[in-house]
Amino acid sequence: MTDKTLKGKIVLVTGAAGGVGREVIKKLASQGAKIVATDIAENVHQLADQFNEAELVTVVGDVSKSADVEKIFEKAESSFGAVQALISNAGYMIGKALHETSEEEWDAVLAGNAKSFFLTARRVLPNMLKAGKGSITATGSISSVVGLPSQAAYCASKGAVLQLVRQLAVEYAGQGIRVNAVGPGAINTPFLTRYLNSLPDPEAGAAAVKAAHPMKRWAEPDEVADALVFLASDEAAFVTGHILMVDGGYVAG
Ligand SMILES: NC(=O)c1ccc[n+]([C@@H]2O[C@H](COP(=O)([O-])OP(=O)(O)OC[C@H]3O[C@@H](n4cnc5c(N)ncnc54)[C@H](O)[C@@H]3O)[C@@H](O)[C@H]2O)c1
Repeated sequence: MTDKTLKGKIVLVTGAAGGVGREVIKKLASQGAKIVATDIAENVHQLADQFNEAELVTVVGDVSKSADVEKIFEKAESSFGAVQALISNAGYMIGKALHETSEEEWDAVLAGNAKSFFLTARRVLPNMLKAGKGSITATGSISSVVGLPSQAAYCASKGAVLQLVRQLAVEYAGQGIRVNAVGPGAINTPFLTRYLNSLPDPEAGAAAVKAAHPMKRWAEPDEVADALVFLASDEAAFVTGHILMVDGGYVAG
């Protein structure tokens, strides 16, 4: 039987030091992938203590800057070769209504989520086109498809991610490249903790966030990682241009 996992595949994961990123790395390692783990945070290097360098390399960089993206891909190529699956998972949120959002905050959120996806996808595509195959998977959000209070720039940026996923899927389907997104609801990661702590009453905020999901809870990061790795792998060989909601029913209502 054909192996449909990412065994032996060269996979680059952005936002690898975060809550979801770490679970993606664990799952990729269990499948036997060759992993390039990158993050703007220096602690991404801690991942190197858990895996040997034949299976994982780490590199620090800001994926919203093309020079850093180049450095990250050069590290990937010198360590393992051309990247075969990109998991664009880095993300950044400022929780503000539009009338409170400064120009700098807007630019930072759009750069962290949308531009970072553009830059990494643009860098990976020429090699995928040469190979005639590849997968690109982005972490979107429920904010890709619905409007949420106090998330003006974030909703705009995650909406852009989803539209670029669909556009890329159509553009490159004929060349064997699949492009998909995962759309999580709230996930139990530092990202959510930061958001809750920015609220006047974090405990009431947490209860409200859970209540807003029909399953009355938030996701654990491994549940989102499972969906990302599925879409990146050949288990999803006929899936492209899709957003797989991992949201406990949030957008079904
Ligand atoms: N946690 C949630 O409730 C939630 C909900 C929906 C979607 N998401 C999305 O899930 C993804 C993973 O987030 P998480 O929940 O693991 O949060 P997290 O904050 O734990 O991890 C995000 C990681 O991205 C990194 N990062 C941010 N900007 C970067 C940049 N410019 N370059 C490189 N790295 C950068 C951070 O350093 C961090 O390690 C993000 O795209 C986020 O938008 C999160």
